Amino acid sequence: MTTKTQRRLRGGMIGLGFMGRHHVGQYEKLPQVELVAIADADPVRLHNKATIEGNIDLPQPKINFAALQAFADGRDLIAQADVDFVDIATPSYLHAEMAVLAAEAGRHILVEKPMALNSADAERMIAAARANNVRLMVAQVVRFWPEYLYLKEVYTSKRLGRLMHAEFIRRGSRPRWSWRKWMSEVEHSGGAPFDLHIHDVDYVHYLLGEPQKITARHIVSPGSTGHDIMTAQFEYPDGLTVAVDGGWYAPARYGFYSAYEAVFEQGIVRYHGGAQPTLTVMRNDTDEVETPSVSGDPYEAEILFFVRALQDGSDPAEQHPPESSLAAVRLIERELASA
Ligand SMILES: NC(=O)c1ccc[n+]([C@@H]2O[C@H](COP(=O)([O-])OP(=O)(O)OC[C@H]3O[C@@H](n4cnc5c(N)ncnc54)[C@H](O)[C@@H]3O)[C@@H](O)[C@H]2O)c1
Repeated sequence: MTTKTQRRLRGGMIGLGFMGRHHVGQYEKLPQVELVAIADADPVRLHNKATIEGNIDLPQPKINFAALQAFADGRDLIAQADVDFVDIATPSYLHAEMAVLAAEAGRHILVEKPMALNSADAERMIAAARANNVRLMVAQVVRFWPEYLYLKEVYTSKRLGRLMHAEFIRRGSRPRWSWRKWMSEVEHSGGAPFDLHIHDVDYVHYLLGEPQKITARHIVSPGSTGHDIMTAQFEYPDGLTVAVDGGWYAPARYGFYSAYEAVFEQGIVRYHGGAQPTLTVMRNDTDEVETPSVSGDPYEAEILFFVRALQDGSDPAEQHPPESSLAAVRLIERELASA
């Protein structure tokens, strides 16, 4: 399949739950994409009659389902629909199987995080994409989140000097919305480490690379079937330590919260997410507190990045290689082994 094309890219969306449906809304904004096919195992969702819930407040689009070829299984969409790419937002335990099938059918692939629930599956996905010469990108949206892009710029430019310490937090209430409760079942979602905490693990790896040493603890809360809390410390050269803490043990009213604090030689960058996100910079040499203005829809940026790469024939892997998402999966495995 050729990737360099001026015609509209034909896309197929697999999984129309909380995230898949949000992705559909993103494609509808892009004139260079024509979404032609959808697949979902739930007929109510496939026929636009479902109320969709999720962990964060995202707009869910109204979709003109009549114009789309509908499949009851993503595997059928891959085999039968005439598409250039598929976007896989199924439950996480299906990512590897769907991605390998899509690669073998010659479709480019955007797949939601976690890339897979173990590194062997993630390796199979990369090998299949390579063998069939298709693009494979994992939707690690935090890499596109404005406040996290800001931190990357401060780190890379060294304008606050060397990074000495950082903390990343991501917490939510236990997922209650997923299709057939797959998210609450550790064998299907990997629990909080693979589902939630991996966002920060991937970001830390994207920012700093492979840690020299990992120490981690996980907690299974009463009544749970899997891991609910993971708290890890990553050690890097020159004494840099990074604490990464995530979990979904909070009560329902808690909702969702993410934050970081990065301590540089010459100041601190602090982000508090939640309903009213704040980003502040406190420099050692002044009492003034800066509040940098950052904006942008990270999901839009992520999908646009993937689509533009397909359009101009470049490889999204140059900036976001699937190997780096595989590395995040391996880091979670190392954490679990250390815990
Ligand atoms: N990037 C983010 O911020 C973010 C947020 C939430 C979820 N996610 C990821 O998105 C993926 C989906 O999560 P969700 O919250 O949308 O879950 P969900 O349960 O709301 O949706 C999953 C959908 O997949 C469908 N499905 C199941 N088997 C299928 C099959 N064989 N073929 C086609 N469809 C099938 C289900 O019917 C369901 O509608 C997960 O991998 C999750 O980790 C990412």
